[in-house]
Amino acid sequence: MIERLKGFRDFYPEDMEVREHIFSIMRENAKIFGFRPIDYPSLELLEMFRIKSGEEILSQTYNFKDRGEREITLIPEATPSTVRMLASRKDLPKPVRWYNIPKLWRYEEPQSGRTREHVQMNADIFGDGSAVADADIIGLACTILDSLGLKGHYEVRINERKLMEKILTISGSRNIISDMGIIDRFHKVDKDEILLKLASNGMGHENAEHIYSFLGKKYKIGNIEEGVGEFFNLSEMDQLVHRIKETGDILTENGFQNILFNPSTVRGLAYYTGIVFEGFDIKGKFRSIFGGGRYDNLSTLFSGTEIPAVGFGMGDAVLENLMKDLGLWNWEDNHRRYYIIGMGEEGYNEAIKLSFNMRKNGVKCIIHNGGKNLSNAMKTASSLQFSHVIIIGKKEIEDKIYTVRDLKTGEQTGVRYEDIMKT
Ligand code: HAM
Repeated sequence: MIERLKGFRDFYPEDMEVREHIFSIMRENAKIFGFRPIDYPSLELLEMFRIKSGEEILSQTYNFKDRGEREITLIPEATPSTVRMLASRKDLPKPVRWYNIPKLWRYEEPQSGRTREHVQMNADIFGDGSAVADADIIGLACTILDSLGLKGHYEVRINERKLMEKILTISGSRNIISDMGIIDRFHKVDKDEILLKLASNGMGHENAEHIYSFLGKKYKIGNIEEGVGEFFNLSEMDQLVHRIKETGDILTENGFQNILFNPSTVRGLAYYTGIVFEGFDIKGKFRSIFGGGRYDNLSTLFSGTEIPAVGFGMGDAVLENLMKDLGLWNWEDNHRRYYIIGMGEEGYNEAIKLSFNMRKNGVKCIIHNGGKNLSNAMKTASSLQFSHVIIIGKKEIEDKIYTVRDLKTGEQTGVRYEDIMKT
């Protein structure tokens, strides 16, 4: 047998049905929040990610040279393609709200919540730099999770890149980008490594220790001023703190729970310029459920014009981990699904006709094509998890009343043709 590639997944119907349900919740809520669908190719020029995403993602690309010697890659993330599309349509009235649920490919070490091919919902707002746009984006991510039954099971960690840049600068950092990189790895590396890095970028020991204690904190978003004020002179960063609070307050006032300020949330991708956020399960068992932020400069690289932008990506793998952990990984088709058994030649021909008519009326059904034994046919219907069986013999054809058996209760009733079409 030929094996599947490492880090890639197959999906059988029992999982795929749950996945489709999740994707439909994502689409439905995106539309409710005013987002419109887009799509882009799975292959792009590697160059785009070289300039737009940063080193880490570039090192994870599945890339190759095509027959025209062009350097091509499977897309590792959706944001550069989305911005490319936006930049090439200057006529679009702003704000633009777009969503998509593409497949993405990253050559990462496969582990829990990390695969080499994943599906990631993306939603982005362009041309609106307000805190309300930030809250809409985070609010959409939260609404999707709430609709999946995850309310109370996740937290959103929010920060602002400019705030961290300011804090690093006043603490003596001479290499902000490098220090942001180590902060991004706060939960993955030990304290000594972080302190060493901060020191190598010019920070004194006392300041580095001070920053390290700050990074480990989480505050309810309403308490951000007290939190930052505990460590730093608030007046130096008043506006930035206020901006995070504004977004957080909109979210908490509108019923979203567990919105936190977390200084170590800075995001790995190179293009973020403002608010950044990540969603995690409340017990901290899994990797990030979603992540995103504001990236006002990225469009400048494509079109020379700065367009405010904010968005998030939510992957399928961590959602699956979390929903399975909570016993929420299931989906039941509440509609009736009929298995039609035609008895004798006449019954069989009637069953074929009935099945096509039922489908025209949107009623789910298939006909039994196996042997003539009724009890075996019933067993097949049960094992294929049909909800009902319709049995059609001579009498049923004459009376135009079909025998319908509910496979859950075993109850058997006569149902008229017109009524079957309505179920
Ligand atoms: P990201 O943090 O790289 O951001 O990915 C977003 C989410 O995608 C993660 O929180 C996780 O759920 C999922 N994810 C990422 N990599 C993998 C993987 N290898 N396997 C499974 N799931 C994964 C971005 O990609 C940004 N482009 C999001 C964004 C959109 N920012 C603005 N707009």
